[in-house]
Amino acid sequence: MIHFNPDTRTFNLILHSSVYAMQVDSKGRLVHLAWGPRPAGENEVLSGRIRPTLSDHASFEFQTRRDELLTFGDTTTHEVTLKASFATLPDPLPDGDAPHLPIRDVRLRYVSHEIVIDAQPGLAPAHGLPTANSDPRETLRITLADPVQPLTVTLCYRLTPAQDIIERWLELANTGDTPIEIEQLFFAALHLPNGTTELTSVSGAWAQEFQTQRERLLIGRRVIEHRSLQTGHAANPFFLLNRPGQTWEELGTVYFGALAYSGSWQLSFEQLHSTDVRVHGGYHPADFALTLAAGGLHKTPALVCGVCDEGWGGASRRLHGFTRERILPMAVAGLQTVPLELHGTGGAVRTPAAADYRPILYNSWEATYFGITEQNQIELAQKAAAIGVELFCLDDGWFGGRRFDVAGLGDWIVSPDVFPNGLEPLISEVNRLGMAFGLWVEPEMVNPDSDLYRAHPEWALHFPGRPRTEARCQLILDFGREEVVEYIFNALDSLLAQYNIAFIKWDMNRNVSEPGSVVGKAIWQAHVAGVYGIMDRLRAKYPHLTIESCSGGGGRIDLGILGRTDQVWTSDNTDALDRLRIQEGFSLAYPARVMTAWVTHEKNHQTGRFHELGTRFDVAMRGALGIGASLNGLDEAELKEYANYIAFYKRIRHIVQGGDLYRLERLEEADASTILYVLPDGSEAVYSVVVHSHKMGQFRRMVPLRGLIPSATYEVLDRYQKVRLTATGYELMVQGIGGDEDGRSGYGRTLHIRSI
Ligand code: GLA
Repeated sequence: MIHFNPDTRTFNLILHSSVYAMQVDSKGRLVHLAWGPRPAGENEVLSGRIRPTLSDHASFEFQTRRDELLTFGDTTTHEVTLKASFATLPDPLPDGDAPHLPIRDVRLRYVSHEIVIDAQPGLAPAHGLPTANSDPRETLRITLADPVQPLTVTLCYRLTPAQDIIERWLELANTGDTPIEIEQLFFAALHLPNGTTELTSVSGAWAQEFQTQRERLLIGRRVIEHRSLQTGHAANPFFLLNRPGQTWEELGTVYFGALAYSGSWQLSFEQLHSTDVRVHGGYHPADFALTLAAGGLHKTPALVCGVCDEGWGGASRRLHGFTRERILPMAVAGLQTVPLELHGTGGAVRTPAAADYRPILYNSWEATYFGITEQNQIELAQKAAAIGVELFCLDDGWFGGRRFDVAGLGDWIVSPDVFPNGLEPLISEVNRLGMAFGLWVEPEMVNPDSDLYRAHPEWALHFPGRPRTEARCQLILDFGREEVVEYIFNALDSLLAQYNIAFIKWDMNRNVSEPGSVVGKAIWQAHVAGVYGIMDRLRAKYPHLTIESCSGGGGRIDLGILGRTDQVWTSDNTDALDRLRIQEGFSLAYPARVMTAWVTHEKNHQTGRFHELGTRFDVAMRGALGIGASLNGLDEAELKEYANYIAFYKRIRHIVQGGDLYRLERLEEADASTILYVLPDGSEAVYSVVVHSHKMGQFRRMVPLRGLIPSATYEVLDRYQKVRLTATGYELMVQGIGGDEDGRSGYGRTLHIRSI
């Protein structure tokens, strides 16, 4: 609910269990008042009489006012949201004044506000597919204008009350007749209560994404960022912030946020000397430029943010629910989903709505790498179908001269050397076996050794006359050129028109260098818009199509790409124990439903370590299960084990992919990870424990469960559907689940809990 008091010009944005308030002051400035949890059940509003204390009088600290939009001009000593420069002078120039150009001074004052339904931020999905929940939402739009210069800025606040989430973005309009240069632009600034200085974020690298880090902000600025044309492995654009010592996994006030953007981004956390804490998030300022043409408009993407008082777990659950319900597109019923059989419900078979759950994927990359043939893919497909796989994805190496990673990118034509009869025989066989077919592509790239590059060397990003740095032997196409975006769209469109393709894995395997484009510095945003635009057009044209976002593993995962994809490739590292840590960091912001997790070989290809099959499944079943092992190398007994696990996963995936996550025991605090997924109505849960390392002589602790119905009685089943325990929700939530009857809890277990 959005409440406005015209007498005090105070706004209250009231969400399920939090409130956000701001006020127009006597000089017309929009000033932040408060943001935080609110007492349950109260429908009161903040009157605006209590104002934050500001040291506004000292000559060295006079820029501490909490403006909702911090502009360069009103503020110069601290970080700003917007910096613009104007090339025109007042006419006539006051007597004796000199032309100080450009004028770099923006002061925004309140003009008007309105409440609208279903407003959209910049780069919102344009594919037209619905989300799981499309109930209308209110957006507050507050328009401010510079009294002298022809610039207006509308601050937008879209409310999703159920998850305590506000999406913030800006709309800039040039109302004059000369261009305005925008030199810095974030999507929003957030003002947090003093002392909110414990920051949780993730850092990483290729094959080691989402490493959780927790630190105390000092006075000054801490920056997390990635400067490339995708989201990046080194960091991910989300954060959790709380007061040190006052928050834990299920307890305490947590502020959280994430950017819905997949390009060069920055989040910065600024603690002023006054201990005020501010968060700035949006376009990376490095090499940033935006020209707002006369009459022009620019909408930024959104900074998604919220607050809750249920600890880090509560913050994660809100982000997960928001993503599942409001961000992920719902593909139209088609080949991408397979009816789910729910066993053990008195013989009844339930077929959920199409696209309810992600299908079980087989990806042949680690089985055959670049050694693919029609025959070995057909053999893999037959084995995959026999163990219960629902979607078969052919990875890299099927096109052009792509016999290894040195050539072929850009030539999106099926290679007759590998598939003499095209993809049709393989796809027909995959479909005959009851599976959907998926295909790997890397559309933004070109190898210099390709027909495309030989025809159009000017299409790669570069600066004329300067070197072009290759990475994995490839260059990036200039998506600033409309003809390049059109070419790539048409190449993918032809494949989808010709073949029965239900899924594409969209990869992006390098960081940028030499970002020279025909559109100049605008390439940073143009590239992202190009990628989103192609995905949106494909999805609009092929509404049954689903997409996996991949960038050398987890290099392009954010709330922007998730608006047009269905799942993400979490990491190229499939070592179960490494994955445990990666997945824990991932789960801070993103839901299990989108987290593709493969079971690969006993001897892991990335780390060379051995893990038993049970551990590999226990870890992979925590997300959207996939298989990446070479099935041709497994004997009948092993294939039977795979089939047994897959059948088990089919019985629990509606809980994994649709349930609420509780991290009962984190790797961060213990040498084990225990998690629980619980359906929102408490009727079923999945309990998963994986021990990372174990000290002999010590008992594994029992961890109390959460989210169950205390009075209900539950059966705890193993993967053979054997009942291991019967207990009430009360008992499980007070005591937890002990070891097996032999007294050992083992190194990993996945159990299905259901009320009887
Ligand atoms: C990237 C992906 C892998 C695989 C290869 C193919 O590294 O992350 O899964 O698709 O490219 O070249």
